[in-house]
Amino acid sequence: MKKQLAAGMVRGKTGIHLFEVPMPEIKQPDEVLIRVKEVGLDGTDFNAIRFNLQDIGEGRDEMVMGHEAVGVVEATGPGVKSFKPGDPVTITVRRGCDICHPCLHNMSDMCMTGLYRERGLHRLDGSLTRFVIEREQYVIKVPAEVVKWAVFSEPLSIVEKGVEQIRIIQSRLPWTCDHPEHTFLSPRWGGCKTALVVGAGPLGLLAIALLTISDIKVFVADILPEDHPRVRLAKGMDATYIDARSISPKEIVADCCLNANLDIIFEASGAAATAVGLIPHMSRSSIYVMTGIPREELMIQIDAARLVRQIVRFNQVIVGSINSNRTHFERALQDLKQITSRFSSLPVAPVIHRWKLEDSERAFATQDPAHIKTVIEVEPW
Ligand code: BGC
Ligand code: ZN
Repeated sequence: MKKQLAAGMVRGKTGIHLFEVPMPEIKQPDEVLIRVKEVGLDGTDFNAIRFNLQDIGEGRDEMVMGHEAVGVVEATGPGVKSFKPGDPVTITVRRGCDICHPCLHNMSDMCMTGLYRERGLHRLDGSLTRFVIEREQYVIKVPAEVVKWAVFSEPLSIVEKGVEQIRIIQSRLPWTCDHPEHTFLSPRWGGCKTALVVGAGPLGLLAIALLTISDIKVFVADILPEDHPRVRLAKGMDATYIDARSISPKEIVADCCLNANLDIIFEASGAAATAVGLIPHMSRSSIYVMTGIPREELMIQIDAARLVRQIVRFNQVIVGSINSNRTHFERALQDLKQITSRFSSLPVAPVIHRWKLEDSERAFATQDPAHIKTVIEVEPW
């Protein structure tokens, strides 16, 4: 049997390892064989290794990691209609439980049983290898204009879902300003609105990008110095930076409210104390979407009566948003066109740390503050 190199977890061992897996072959008519080009790593990947959160499938002793994958179609099964060899593609992460209604309707990101699997994260092999097989329904074509940036389509799809939640939920408010075209479900929904993004990591920066192209006035809070590359990128996208190192959550919100309402808080840091600390300062009828996933434990004391009173009296919504489905990927790829053309002068490439597949162990072990994103370049374009 032909084998190929892969990087991932090994049962009972800590850290990331290189091992061999069988070279995949098309067996079903709807399968697509993909030649992997680039795989991005994110906080979930780093935490999985750091905290040894092994979630390897039954009957297996290894799990290939990597869920932010871009590649090209190498071959297709006889039933595949939408792809041909050479097409640049990306793949979704979650595979549904096949039991609950959301999963049965292509919304496994909203799975209600928790019995889903995720490529490279939960019980399914990911893409840190040379070739992967995927069913046509989970493969998405990448438009030619954004191939170079397509490694951001998975994290951007996470932001797309968060923003979708905001828009759907806040459509409860048909009027927030004088302009009927600024209602949450209209294409120009961002006008006259203010958002605070918490965390200027890869997800936070993509949230800034998406909110800014939607015409929202964006503030971003983090605990970085003003000259940090992440902060420079945030500012390059017209966000106003708030250095949260020496100010309280109350002051953070005061900085971006300027007497107006703070319509949206988009949490993308996973810094639990700040995330919860901001709740008491939410504006009336506003929405707070959380996408960061904190690890470990953190105890805090709150005035529960005051908090509940406020949430009720102010019609506030706090919503969690995990994962993304095909529609979010499709939207991400469309918006990536707009984002990359609007911010084309931003120096993104130099802050991406690229590694070869063979160097995956070092890629996981290295945290260079000058870089904002780690990408494993499995095969150069
Ligand atoms: C991924 C999501 C996934 C989540 C939890 C994130 O890093 O982007 O797709 O659902 O981790 O596993
Ligand atoms: Zn307006």
